[in-house]
Amino acid sequence: MALVTRVTDLIGNTPLFELAATDTGTRLLLKLEQFNPTGAAKIRMAREMVRDAERRGLLKDGGHIIESTSGNTGLGLAVVAAERGYRFTAVVDHHACKDKLRAMRAMGAELVYVADDGDDSLATSAREDLAEAMAAARPDAYFTEQHNNDANALGYYAVAEELLDDLGSVDILLSAVGTGGSLFGTARRLRELGCAARVIGVEPIGSIAFGGEGGPYWQSGTGTPPGATVGTAVDYSLLDEGVKVSDVDAFATARAVAAKLGLLIGGSAGGSVHAALTRLEQFPAGSTVVTIVCDGGEKYLDTVFDDDWMNERDLLDESSESAVLELLDRYSPARRDLVGAR
Ligand SMILES: Cc1ncc(COP(=O)(O)O)c(C=O)c1O
Repeated sequence: MALVTRVTDLIGNTPLFELAATDTGTRLLLKLEQFNPTGAAKIRMAREMVRDAERRGLLKDGGHIIESTSGNTGLGLAVVAAERGYRFTAVVDHHACKDKLRAMRAMGAELVYVADDGDDSLATSAREDLAEAMAAARPDAYFTEQHNNDANALGYYAVAEELLDDLGSVDILLSAVGTGGSLFGTARRLRELGCAARVIGVEPIGSIAFGGEGGPYWQSGTGTPPGATVGTAVDYSLLDEGVKVSDVDAFATARAVAAKLGLLIGGSAGGSVHAALTRLEQFPAGSTVVTIVCDGGEKYLDTVFDDDWMNERDLLDESSESAVLELLDRYSPARRDLVGAR
């Protein structure tokens, strides 16, 4: 693909990065979805939801797309709407990363806030209610409703295909669960293609998709906050295990990976990587473990990577960061190569 004419032609074929390897041959590979346009995986499903609506006659020429978003979905829809001539309204809250909101606006999206300035709490269910009401009141509007849209998971089938092309097989797929589209779409397609990977979902402590007590959390773009409903994109029949990660550990991991390797991953990916690194020795020897990095850390320079922001929220924890650095050292693929060469 030497020359493209649309930004969405650049979606997919994202690289794999070997983050860790044990002496028994288990490898942790990161599928770096920040290499998609908008720097996130969500643009895969944004395109699929719009194509699906067009096929089903739900979105007409010049129509209006409405979605509730914490940022990355809105960025993806902004690109697709700009390319295809739709109006796009993103219903957002102040919990979302400011740069994501600015970028959406730059690409022509209209932003509607559900909360007042200064209220930076996560307002998923208020956003969804407003998006639904707005769409119901406008005859030309379509609410893409990512949490309950089958096209969400479908947008990630290509992730499974790319993984099998690159690796032949995957033993463990371990990744963040927000709507569930990326993990369960990838998992379903892997199964369809004959690869029975073990599927491990990761959510923040405080998120309720895997049970337990609900509460606030700072990991962005992931989890189901208390009060929100788990949508149909979360396919429990494909889930082998659900694990929870604290904001402290998730963010310490993102910071440690950046400091050690020069790789910026987002806070939710930090959570997945923490879950994977701390379980690596428990997986059968020789396992290929894949984690989807839903977005890069560039979007969190003012939050996860900012000491003041972290301190104000009591999230900075040197001991957690050193523990991750130690794991990265212990499982460094370069170290394994040296051992092999001796
Ligand atoms: C920052 C972030 N975290 C987590 C996820 C996983 O979300 P979902 O379960 O909705 O696919 C995404 C999706 O791409 C994301 O952008």
